[in-house]
Amino acid sequence: MKVDVLLGLQWGDEGKGKIVDVLTPKYDIIARFQGGPNAGHSLEFNQVKHILHSIPSGIFHENQINLVGNGVVIDPVIFKEEVESIMKLGVSLSEKLMISRKAHLILPSHRILDAASEASKGITKIGSTLKGIGPTYMDKTGRNGLRIGDLLEPGFQQKYQALKQKHRDLLKLYDYEYNLEEGEERWFEGIEEIKKYQIVDSEYEINNFLQQGKRILAEGAQGTMLDIDFGSYPYVTSSNTISAAACTGLGIAPNKIGEVFGVFKAYCTRVGSGPFPSELADDTGKHLREKGSEYGATTGRPRRCGWLDLVALKYAIMLNGVTRLLMTKVDVLSGFESLKICTAYKKNNRISDQVPYDLMEISEPVYVEMKGWNQDLLSVRAVKDLPDELHEYIRKIENETGVPVSIVSTGPDREQILFRDEQ
Ligand code: GDP
Ligand code: IMO
Ligand code: MG
Repeated sequence: MKVDVLLGLQWGDEGKGKIVDVLTPKYDIIARFQGGPNAGHSLEFNQVKHILHSIPSGIFHENQINLVGNGVVIDPVIFKEEVESIMKLGVSLSEKLMISRKAHLILPSHRILDAASEASKGITKIGSTLKGIGPTYMDKTGRNGLRIGDLLEPGFQQKYQALKQKHRDLLKLYDYEYNLEEGEERWFEGIEEIKKYQIVDSEYEINNFLQQGKRILAEGAQGTMLDIDFGSYPYVTSSNTISAAACTGLGIAPNKIGEVFGVFKAYCTRVGSGPFPSELADDTGKHLREKGSEYGATTGRPRRCGWLDLVALKYAIMLNGVTRLLMTKVDVLSGFESLKICTAYKKNNRISDQVPYDLMEISEPVYVEMKGWNQDLLSVRAVKDLPDELHEYIRKIENETGVPVSIVSTGPDREQILFRDEQ
C-alpha cells in the first residue's frame, strides 16, 4: 500500500479540511504531517461547522485512526480545548487518536517570542497567526526543543524550566512587555490531557499499518506558497508544506507516496502579509470575501482575495507532483459576467510564466478572460448539471496544468461535492 497525500496548492485555506472529511471513508488512517495550530481546517455536516487546528480532519468518522505526526508542533492548551469541544459532540477520542512521541511542543514562551518578533518588525511583519509556530520550529532545528516523548520522562520539569530560561534571555532582545507565567497553568493542564492519548513511535506505527495493507491519507496544513523553502519567503510559515514533508513529517520513504491530491480554490486568497500577484483590492475582491465568507478560521482576520493564479498553481503542481486536482468554492464564482485567470506575470515589460525569486517585484499579472455563469451551484448534485461555462473553466485549468480536476466542491457541507472521475 501507499500513502496518499492531500495538501494545499495556494496560500492555505483551500478547503483541505472539508475534502479530507469527505475522503476519510476511503481510508483507515488520517495523519497530519506538519504545521500546528496556525492551521484552521473547517468541515461541515448536519448544518454545523467544526474547526480543527491540531487534530486530523478524519476525527468525526467512526472507524479511522487519526495520527498527529512527528512533523507537527502541538500547543497543549489548544489541544485540550480542541479535544473538549469534539468530546462535547459525543465523539470518543481515546481509541482513535495517536500522537507521535517526536512531535514538538509549543511552550507559552514560544507564543510570546512570536508576538515579540512580530511587534519588532513593524510594517514588515509576517502577519503570523501568533501561535508560536516560528519560535517552536526554530527550537526544533536549533536542537533545543521539547517533544511529546519528553512528557513521559522524569527530567521534564527541568527541561521545561531550562528552555523557558533560554526564552527569557532571548526576550531581552525585544522591547516587549510580557508575563512568562501567564498561561502556564493551562499549559500544564493541557500536558495532562495529552498524556491520556496514545503516544506512539508513529514512524513504526505508520509503516506497520502500510505493511498490513491499511490505507493512509496524509493531511497537509497551510499551502505550497507558504512553504519555508518555496513560498514567498520571508512571508511564509516555518515548515515545509509540500508533499516531501509528508515523508519527513511521518517517517515514510518517498517510494511509499501514492496519489498526491492538490486542493485549490477556484480563485485565490491569502491571509497575513506578503506578495499576492492576482489580488483584487477593489469591490470584486470585497465581493469574493463576503460571498466566500473569507475570514480566517484561526484568527478571524479578513482574507485578501483575488483571481485564480495559474502561474502559482503550476509551480505548486510541479513541486508536489500532484496527480489529481481538487477544486473548491466554485459556488462563490457564480454570478460573474466574466472571470479572469492569471496566466503569466509581467515585470519590466517582460512576460514570464515562472514564479520569480522575489514575488514582490511583480508589476502586473497577465490575465485571460473566461465567460462566467449565473447558476446557483450549492444544490447541484451531478457533474452534468454544472453550467457549460464552469466546464470550460475547469477544462482551461486541466489544459494548462495537464492534471485532471477530479473533485469539485460546490459548498461547505460534506454533501456539496462532485466526483468528476466517477460520472
Ligand atoms: P483549510 O484550512 O484548507 O481546511 O480551509 P479553511 O477551513 O480554513 O477555509 C475554507 C473555508 O471554505 C471554510 O469556511 C469551509 O467551510 C469553506 N468551504 C470549503 N469548501 C467550500 C466550497 O466548496 N464552497 C464554499 N462556499 N465554501 C467552502
Ligand atoms: P491552513 O492549514 C492560511 C499564514 C499566516 C501568516 C504566515 C505565517 O488553515 O490552510 P505562522 O503562524 O505560520 O507563523 O504564519 O502563514 N498561515 C496561514 N494562512 N492558512 C493557514 O493554515 C495558515 N497557517 C499560517 O497568516 O501569513
Ligand atoms: Mg484554514
